Amino acid sequence: MQELRVGILGFGVVGRGVADLLLTRTALLLQRTGVALRLVRIATRTPERDRGLELGSVEVTRDLQRVVAADDIDVVIELIGGLEPAKSLVLEALTNGKHVITANKALIAVHGAELTARAAAVGRELLFEAAVAGAIPVIKVLREGLAANQIDQIYGILNGTCNYILTAMREKGAAFADVLKEAQAKGFAEADPSFDIDGIDAAHKLAILAAIGFGSFPRFDQIHVEGIRHISDVDIAWATEMGYRIKLLGIAKRDAEGLELRVQPTLVPEAGMVASVEGVFNAVFIRGDAAGTTMYYGRGAGERPTASAVMADLVDIARNGQAAVVQRVASFSTLPSYLSSQPVREAAEWRGEYYLRLAVADQPGVLAEVTAVLARQQISIDAIHQKGRSDVAAVPLIMVTHETTEGQVRAALAAMEQLEAVREPPRFIRIEPGFV
Ligand code: HSE
Repeated sequence: MQELRVGILGFGVVGRGVADLLLTRTALLLQRTGVALRLVRIATRTPERDRGLELGSVEVTRDLQRVVAADDIDVVIELIGGLEPAKSLVLEALTNGKHVITANKALIAVHGAELTARAAAVGRELLFEAAVAGAIPVIKVLREGLAANQIDQIYGILNGTCNYILTAMREKGAAFADVLKEAQAKGFAEADPSFDIDGIDAAHKLAILAAIGFGSFPRFDQIHVEGIRHISDVDIAWATEMGYRIKLLGIAKRDAEGLELRVQPTLVPEAGMVASVEGVFNAVFIRGDAAGTTMYYGRGAGERPTASAVMADLVDIARNGQAAVVQRVASFSTLPSYLSSQPVREAAEWRGEYYLRLAVADQPGVLAEVTAVLARQQISIDAIHQKGRSDVAAVPLIMVTHETTEGQVRAALAAMEQLEAVREPPRFIRIEPGFV
């Protein structure tokens, strides 16, 4: 019987989940692949820590080379995270003839083209299903299930921490800072939450989805990245009043002129499916010219959901081995020689509807001053809301625009900020009324 010998780099939450599945699903995996999947070794900085697993003959070592360079390892699973030393270790493992599986979204988003080129050159697999949306097999869907489609839109909730915070803000009417503190206390948000709440984690995932969906590898700095720190309870309440929910979305669009790539808080219709994805859950929506829009929903993080995705890659490697093929499916779906570099549109050119929030003095003439600024920028207003209170220094003034460009919106808000009656920097949130 054929055997595949596995080494893991990193023995944190996901490493534990992968080890657990490998050690306890031997028969099931054998029935599905025809291959004995054997966990040989795990490298970690803390080999002495008890993870509560029956490890049997599995060696746990501090020495990373005992995984990436050892003769008795066929597949390396990289679960360390971050760019270095992960990148060097992955390159070294490939060069040493190992297949590599990684859950490292930053690594693939930033260095994916270089790493997959190395994998192709040495005839080994580089797979990363767990890097995007945890348990949801969205990479397999894009690469295989939708392979005959021209994809023109991919959007979704790609960060569970942000979705948990936005959901809790709405349900409790609470402020961002209070919900973040509570999420940290419950372990739903990291002690340093900036990667999640500033949108970087979602942007890494979006870069990978865009590369697979569009056959064009974006530079990471071409993605507009905005997080949720500036979303206030006032925004959430007004969004609800107007029939919307606020979600942090990763959005990738393509048309004849190029791509739009952005991570941003977005108002979506509350009756739609995006709005119904709540709490820590993730969802990805993909529009293809043949399939139409399809939706994928599930857990985007956590020990077993992420391990499930890592194991799916291992099963693919085992099956490919049985069929004596390698790289049956290219890492980014499009063959490396056909990957292009499509232009990415600047934010100022994006078209859409916008929600604007100002804090203004509640006095005669303010509305006229503010709307005059919008008129000068040729921005047409769909709705204005203000509940006046003459006993406070500033009241929220909420406006929704008809379709305009982001350049016009930014210019208008910069001009409004100069008005004496405008008491705080104005804010805007994009609206996507057409998202399902
Ligand atoms: N921290 C991420 C999230 C999961 O909150 O969704 C890993 O990318």
